[in-house]
Amino acid sequence: MDNNDQYRRNFLKFLLASPLIGYAGVTKASDASKLDPDLQFIMDLKKELISSPEDALNIFDLEAVARDTLPRAHYGYIATGVGDERSQIANRQGYRDIHLKARRMVDVRNIDMSVTLFGRKWASPLAIAPTGHQGAYHPEGELAVASAAKEKGKLMMLSNVTSNSVEDVNEARGEPVWFQLYARNHWPSNLKLIERAERAGCPVLILTVDMVGASYRETQDRFMKQDDRDCAACHGEVRSPFRGRPMYDGIDLDAYLGAGERFDWGLVKKIKDTTDMKLIIKGITHPIDAKLCVENGVDGLIVSNHGGRSQADSRGTIEILPDVIKAVDGKIPVMVDGGIRRGSDIFKALALGATAVDIGRPYLWGLGAFGQAGVERVLDIFDAELKLVMQQMGVTSIEQIKSSSLALPRGFAKS
Ligand code: FNR
Ligand code: LAC
Repeated sequence: MDNNDQYRRNFLKFLLASPLIGYAGVTKASDASKLDPDLQFIMDLKKELISSPEDALNIFDLEAVARDTLPRAHYGYIATGVGDERSQIANRQGYRDIHLKARRMVDVRNIDMSVTLFGRKWASPLAIAPTGHQGAYHPEGELAVASAAKEKGKLMMLSNVTSNSVEDVNEARGEPVWFQLYARNHWPSNLKLIERAERAGCPVLILTVDMVGASYRETQDRFMKQDDRDCAACHGEVRSPFRGRPMYDGIDLDAYLGAGERFDWGLVKKIKDTTDMKLIIKGITHPIDAKLCVENGVDGLIVSNHGGRSQADSRGTIEILPDVIKAVDGKIPVMVDGGIRRGSDIFKALALGATAVDIGRPYLWGLGAFGQAGVERVLDIFDAELKLVMQQMGVTSIEQIKSSSLALPRGFAKS
């Protein structure tokens, strides 16, 4: 099989498991038969849209409802990565290529999934990644997500392009969230955002560094073409993720938006000199940068390619993770996100050294499908699946999850 064949094969597989295509399509079943004749009967099982979150067997049942419910343009915004989606495919493929080696004869009645991050104990290693504009998926937006996070005891990261203010979100969450910042080359605005998050009690600031320059989101453009509503009617004449948002009250948006992005280690120093919040960098994909995070006094990092939305042709983040873990050498916690869709994916990430994992699209599917109840269902499904996988693998605590449980594909993370 040449590289092109392999790519076509992977892309077909991606579409079959992906929000980008309906479950019930005839083409899908015939594509599936080409890919996996032995599994034809599974693809032929008719999947109905569920009408209540409890009916979801897995997170993809919620995805189907979100895709059916949301305006095409909004759904397309969730679904999109960049270009021909190879980074998004790689994220999923990376997990699929790893198999699990179970140990037997272990008493797994009591499972402890707790992890500790910066001295705070969490009941499970699953966290909510920052995603913008949640009001586009449900009228309650980030407040619904925060209430679900509160109900399920989950760490929530809040994007600075939130539809709701950090103060309101913290109240709904019942404790301050971690605040994510897109810094721009306009320090007075960066400072206002940082100080506001700190005043609101946020213990951790996440600096996202992987969105430099434009990202070409072809999938989103295609979905937008299917949406005949007038975007300006809701978004106003000047469509910007910042205008009119409560987090940007009092910020000179012309200066801020006109300044462009600026990410260098000088900015990191400036932020560290400014705030007592812990500083995490999100968007690391290279071990050299991981090392620099440690050398520059960063408190933690997130291995991320922004869910395949920031750059073309990324390796899957699960494949990047071991290099980063090696570079960091245990000095700071490392989280990972991108393509985590099953409890077994969480297990694999932890086995390769992640302290915790973050999900993006899955909880947005829950939000778009059923609001807070949908987000809660997504969080429950992940926790239940992780517990099950731990039992199957014969481990009873997160510390016991080791790479010896993994069968890695030949050449994995060797590049
Ligand atoms: C994101 N992501 C993101 N990241 C960030 O730092 N700030 C943000 O505002 C957003 N906004 C955003 C919107 C949407 C719709 C998506 C899907 C993603 C990236 C996010 O934090 C995370 O890195 C990925 O979503 C993880 O990949 P999965 O779980 O979506 O595959
Ligand atoms: C995105 C930005 C908001 O991925 O991070 O769309």
